[in-house]
Amino acid sequence: MHFLNTTAFTLDELSQLIDSALRFKRGEDHSKPLAGKSVALVFFNPSLRTRASMQVGIYELGGHAVVLEPGGTSWTLEQREGVVMDGDKTEHVAEFVRVLGRYCAAIGVRTFAALKNWGEERTDPILKAFAKYSEVPIINLESAMHHPCQALADMMTIQEKLGAARRRVVLTWAWHPKPLPMAVPNSFALAAAQMGHDLVIAHPAGYELDEELIETVTRRAEAARGGVQVTRNIDAAFDGAEVIYAKSWGAKQFYGSPERDIAERGQFREKWIVDEQKMSRTKNAIFMHCLPVRRNVIVTDAVIDSTASVVIDEAENRLHMQKAIMASLLGKED
Ligand code: CP
Repeated sequence: MHFLNTTAFTLDELSQLIDSALRFKRGEDHSKPLAGKSVALVFFNPSLRTRASMQVGIYELGGHAVVLEPGGTSWTLEQREGVVMDGDKTEHVAEFVRVLGRYCAAIGVRTFAALKNWGEERTDPILKAFAKYSEVPIINLESAMHHPCQALADMMTIQEKLGAARRRVVLTWAWHPKPLPMAVPNSFALAAAQMGHDLVIAHPAGYELDEELIETVTRRAEAARGGVQVTRNIDAAFDGAEVIYAKSWGAKQFYGSPERDIAERGQFREKWIVDEQKMSRTKNAIFMHCLPVRRNVIVTDAVIDSTASVVIDEAENRLHMQKAIMASLLGKED
């Protein structure tokens, strides 16, 4: 019942969600499956797109959004099992989600990686605690490992711009002054593989994605008759690309030591940026990024301001896709 990542979805189910989102976007679906219902949105981290598009989407589906920020507008939260709560945490997730479930039809939660302990954070402990205790559907609004709402909006954007056929899709790491979480690249790679795209993942040595995630991506790509290739050559990766998806992320081995990651990545600053020269190697590729993006760091002004850039449509599609997801999860009669 929960929506935590796209792993369990079939190609048909993903295509149905994209079709539903496109119907919402074209104004062909005016249904109000959330009429009389409320949805809680729990934000441990900042957000523009996710927060605004979920609030607007819930309103447009006839529902009401309850936004909570643990440690700010609600109590600080503990998620560990069996812990003696004599520290700085006031409430346990066990009570928090079951109480919210008495008011709300679903709970969305954003809980980024803290980039402190890879082995622990790759298990998505906070999201898992929400899913374990909740009696209503949990919607992942970006956890340490996955951002499925973003990835599905990305797949919708590719289909909208380039049609439903298989495309050469390049996910490229880009330099950023500090290490960032991996949820977006993980979910983008997984969804692109599930959709049967010809996926290329480009990153410098040391910035490998999670091994188990890559195994899953590879299996899903095989099942969908797509392909996955990992390369350290950013220039070659751009050759013939139809989609360039830029994102920076932190190195697993430097979780807990950001200063070491920052020192390591310095050597990649000049090379690992999306610029006009690299875009000229592509097959008229569209440029995508989940936003927020640092201009002239991840991507040059010339590229993000060009007609190739679809980042604003991509952000708009978050709204339509999340409406499709919520209608699918919550639209059936009780
Ligand atoms: N792409 C994305 O999730 O944006 P926000 O962090 O602003 O929600």
